[in-house]
Amino acid sequence: MRHPTKPILEVLSGNRQQIPPVWFMRQAGRYLPEYRALRDRAGSFLKLCFTPELAAEVTLQPIRRFGFDAAILFSDILVVPHALGRRVTFEAGEGPRLEPLDEASKIKTLRTDVDASVLAPVYEAVRLVKRDLPPHVALIGFCGAPWTVATYMIAGCGTPDQAPARMLAYSQPAAFARLIDILVDVSSHYLAAQIKAGAEAVQIFDTWAGVLPPREFSAWCIEPVRRIVENVRREIPDAKIIAFPRGAGASLPSYVDGVPVDAVSIDWTAEPAFVREHVQPRVAVQGNLDPIVLLAGGDALDRAVDDVLTNYADAPFVFNLGHGILPETPIAHVERTLARIRQA
Ligand code: CP3
Repeated sequence: MRHPTKPILEVLSGNRQQIPPVWFMRQAGRYLPEYRALRDRAGSFLKLCFTPELAAEVTLQPIRRFGFDAAILFSDILVVPHALGRRVTFEAGEGPRLEPLDEASKIKTLRTDVDASVLAPVYEAVRLVKRDLPPHVALIGFCGAPWTVATYMIAGCGTPDQAPARMLAYSQPAAFARLIDILVDVSSHYLAAQIKAGAEAVQIFDTWAGVLPPREFSAWCIEPVRRIVENVRREIPDAKIIAFPRGAGASLPSYVDGVPVDAVSIDWTAEPAFVREHVQPRVAVQGNLDPIVLLAGGDALDRAVDDVLTNYADAPFVFNLGHGILPETPIAHVERTLARIRQA
């Protein structure tokens, strides 16, 4: 039995902290000049992800600058399709591009296991980060949820409402289910391997959970993530797991009923009274400052930070954004936010 002493691990064990631990989704990234410099040197984004020394360095940059309570491993959810043999590229300013998996016949011939040598550098990056992490800071590993990863694999890029994946799920349910099954399997192993390499918690990003109607939400968001949590805990019974079903809204209670995670990360549209009544009594909550107010700064930012604390910090809570930090965000706004959270 491990005894957590890091504030964020305490919260994930159900112990409220007087000052909530804080980290930001996408805290390692383009709003940091030191990230931009390293990314230029690396050449490609995937090179950055798959060179352990560089991935570790980028992971640690926001910890050194801001003293966040958690580091999130620098990588991307699309390294999994890459390891499944799909072509993935990231062009600056364009977002990811994949060769579309847009027909049932292409899914039938998709390989069912990852090339282990492709993901090995990720585990090495975990080990390197752990060596240099300050004692109170926890390392979070991650993967994309099967639904969200499938939406990018099918469309080949992000789209406004991920219609291509929804279309395939309705018109070719067997092929679609096969793709989800493959992603459940490889994601389970991927998360367990990150934890074995030293990640102290993992987060499952379901960025596109909010585009599905209830029946499909249950089939393609709740069920697959539930299976991943079960698979990981079968190997590592005390694995700490956070899920981020962005846009789940009124489905959050059924989500936390169906998926036995240690914390649920909520987006900025969540209704506070509803979350306090129906979600917080069951699991720790993480979130949910609007990334746009972090960009705006000033009084609006101070008010929004206070609102998040008032709404959620009386129960086990991790302060975070409601989605990733935007590249244009001024560093001073991040500093101001951390100071306000910690002023107590
Ligand atoms: O700091 C961290 O949070 C760790 C690193 C991380 C990245 N992507 C780095 C990245 C994490 C956890 C992710 C998750 C991710 N990637 C998600 C889920 C969370 C979310 O934000 O919704 C998704 C959907 C992706 C897929 C992806 N990767 C997109 C849509 C894009 C382009 C949009 C964008 O923000 O640029 C990426 C590229 C990406 N992933 C960058 C970074 C730092 C920018 C690449 C660059 O430097 O040019």
